[in-house]
Amino acid sequence: MDKYMINGGRRLEGCVRIQTAKNSVLPILAASVLTDEPVTVLNVPDITDVRNMVKILGCLGCRAVYDGDNLTIDSSPADNCEIPRALAHELRSSVFLLGSVISRFRKAKIAYPGGCDIGLRPVDLHLTGLKRLGVDITESNGYILCKCEKLVGNEIMLDCPSVGATENIMLAAVKAEGTTIIKNAAREPEIEDLQNFLNSMGAKVRGAGSGSVVVEGVEKLGGSVYQPISDRIEAGTYLIAAAMCGGNVELEGVNAENLSSLLHKLRENGCKLRIKNDKIIIRSDKRPVSVKSVETQPYPGFPTDLQAQMTALCCVCSGNSIVTENLFETRFKYVPELRKMGADITVVDRSAFVRGVDKLRGATTVAHDLRGGAALVIAALAAEGDSEVLDISHIDRGYERFEYKLASLGAGIKRVGI
Ligand code: UD1
Repeated sequence: MDKYMINGGRRLEGCVRIQTAKNSVLPILAASVLTDEPVTVLNVPDITDVRNMVKILGCLGCRAVYDGDNLTIDSSPADNCEIPRALAHELRSSVFLLGSVISRFRKAKIAYPGGCDIGLRPVDLHLTGLKRLGVDITESNGYILCKCEKLVGNEIMLDCPSVGATENIMLAAVKAEGTTIIKNAAREPEIEDLQNFLNSMGAKVRGAGSGSVVVEGVEKLGGSVYQPISDRIEAGTYLIAAAMCGGNVELEGVNAENLSSLLHKLRENGCKLRIKNDKIIIRSDKRPVSVKSVETQPYPGFPTDLQAQMTALCCVCSGNSIVTENLFETRFKYVPELRKMGADITVVDRSAFVRGVDKLRGATTVAHDLRGGAALVIAALAAEGDSEVLDISHIDRGYERFEYKLASLGAGIKRVGI
């Protein structure tokens, strides 16, 4: 497995273009199964989660063709409704395929999904929602087995605003008979992006972003050429890296509104931020000041996917911070790794109590999940001396050309195969 070798302590200067959002591209690719006409997704990021999704689509019988960074999926030859264990375990988002595969074949068999090991990630809300649309679901031997005669729209109230469940139900409902209303729906920008994509195929979806999504079923969906939104989590990671290392960094191709909870915190940290059209420019010249508390919440609250990176930043602030994780149970696995670098963190239940230290020092750390891994990399960039981050395949799941982009900002980072 590859590792990163990092020489820390350098300021970051320059410009980075932000990739297309992983969490938009994955459900959009799942949605391509809903039509027999080609779907082209523009500027698809070259990350392993996308490659695994393409493998799964291939296993269903869809054809995928790359033209540069643009990916065309032709689902007309699709003839299989079963996703085997090995593939489903590579990618949690394989569960999004349930909705579109059932819609297409009236049956589906999918192994329980895998993905990041960040605590119990149940799919009960996905399954309850699909049942409300008329799907008969049984579970056997680690597989979810679904069948239905037809899908019929219904009102679905989610117990919590799950991103994946909202998306899955939207996918199952677009070609159902009648109208589906998803209440307490997730309000993440990627939900609105999925709505816009589905509507570009001829679907009738409205309300995404408001907490109540209304899907009027249509008989048929056509093809589409679509540019999804940019990746707010990748953008946030670079902003936090600049805040930690000091520097002057411009991000290109971002929507600042989707990042407002982070930008608010970075201003409290003392960073200077300028927003110009699709650019965010961050300047950090002094040691960042601590923010008292950060709590992860569903959108528009502080994103759980930036919690680890934010905790890394808190480690070098002047003062103390409390970071509370409200969404996933075991999202502090990176904390013992940061401690190897001299971080002063105590975890009690869902909160990390961080006492800022003057400097982190280089160490060898191990990435356990995607965002925790990114946090270790940016901590190493800010630390004094040399570090290694092992098991970076986790990071490859979500960050395109991470080391190239960071090196282009002046970071001392290289990938080494072992
Ligand atoms: C998506 C994102 C992930 C992000 C997360 C929260 C994708 C591919 N992944 O994951 O990067 O961290 O949103 O913003 O878009 N829950 C249940 N039952 C369910 C489903 C969820 O109890 O059936 C709970 C989860 O345990 C968790 C909370 O709901 O506590 C939020 O999870 P959810 O929004 O579903 O996250 P994902 O869709 O898995």
